Amino acid sequence: MLKDINLIGIAGAGTMGSGIAQIFARFGKNVIVNDIKEEYLTKSRNLIDIFNKSLIEEGLMNENEVENIFSKIKFSTDKNEFKNCDLIIECIVEKLEIKQDFWKELEEIAKKDAYFATNTSGLSINQISSKLNDKSRFIGMHFWNPAHIIPLVELIRGEETSDEMVNDLKSLLETIGKQAVVVNRDVPGFIGNRLQFAAFREALHIVEQGIASIEDVDKAMKYGPGFRYPIIGPLETADLGGLDTFYNISSYLFKDLGDEKEVPKMLEELIENNYLGVKTKKGFYDYSNGRDEEAIKRRDKLLFEMIKHISNK
Ligand SMILES: NC(=O)c1ccc[n+]([C@@H]2O[C@H](COP(=O)([O-])OP(=O)(O)OC[C@H]3O[C@@H](n4cnc5c(N)ncnc54)[C@H](O)[C@@H]3O)[C@@H](O)[C@H]2O)c1
Repeated sequence: MLKDINLIGIAGAGTMGSGIAQIFARFGKNVIVNDIKEEYLTKSRNLIDIFNKSLIEEGLMNENEVENIFSKIKFSTDKNEFKNCDLIIECIVEKLEIKQDFWKELEEIAKKDAYFATNTSGLSINQISSKLNDKSRFIGMHFWNPAHIIPLVELIRGEETSDEMVNDLKSLLETIGKQAVVVNRDVPGFIGNRLQFAAFREALHIVEQGIASIEDVDKAMKYGPGFRYPIIGPLETADLGGLDTFYNISSYLFKDLGDEKEVPKMLEELIENNYLGVKTKKGFYDYSNGRDEEAIKRRDKLLFEMIKHISNK
């Protein structure tokens, strides 16, 4: 039988915690958002307000839902508020020791049957939970940024995660319109980042080898394979293309692909020059003179369009 998950605790009211709180509250769950300082909670309130406004602008939410969303969320700096939560999702800083200590402390506070989930980007699930007495109720629950828009959530099993918990969380995620996938083992990068970084490594390899320009690599992905990916994944693509053809291509192409084990020089040099992308207004591309905001707005606008198409399917 599925467990009732009604009260959800969120630790860490930053970018991810705020997005996750917004979507659960929007779909009717009661949420407690916790952070170490009141000022971070104020920031989170503002962030949720921005998320609401953008969804309303896109016609994906009604104005009258706003009050309801905020009435479902309790903001608090007191960790004891987690004591009645059915599920606690940790979205605090990406530092192993801090996460381990957080969970150790939380085990003392939370209900004995509460579920524990970490939104870590890539730290080991088994290591994060290593100080817990009961690890069967611990899981990785990796939302993608922006969490109130991107449908994917990866559920990563630790060594002792119970099947019951995996099934309950899959059902819960369905109720908030998310697409859950299960990662059977605690591996770096889970599924999404392994796929993303395989493409990233090859993109860097192509540019470094002078095979194509930065612009043309991005264009090739967006209008070629990437154009298909929201509709058919890489394995479905192979089925539709013909596995014999994909076999033949693999037999000569795999050996020519980049297989670097270290971060490529090109990326290292960008970092050394503080070219960090949008956040420093220069990365592979130039984001000065308002092009940074333009890039973010354009991305979000088109992601919303995609959401509308997907939900109409
Ligand atoms: N930003 C992303 O794109 C992204 C995507 C997926 C997963 N994640 C992961 O989600 C987690 C949070 O990332 P973020 O980008 O939201 O970070 P963030 O810096 O925006 O927010 C983290 C918040 O946690 C708070 N915090 C720190 N220690 C705490 C504690 N002991 N108790 C309560 N609150 C505490 C901080 O004050 C801060 O407000 C990280 O593990 C990160 O790797 C981030």
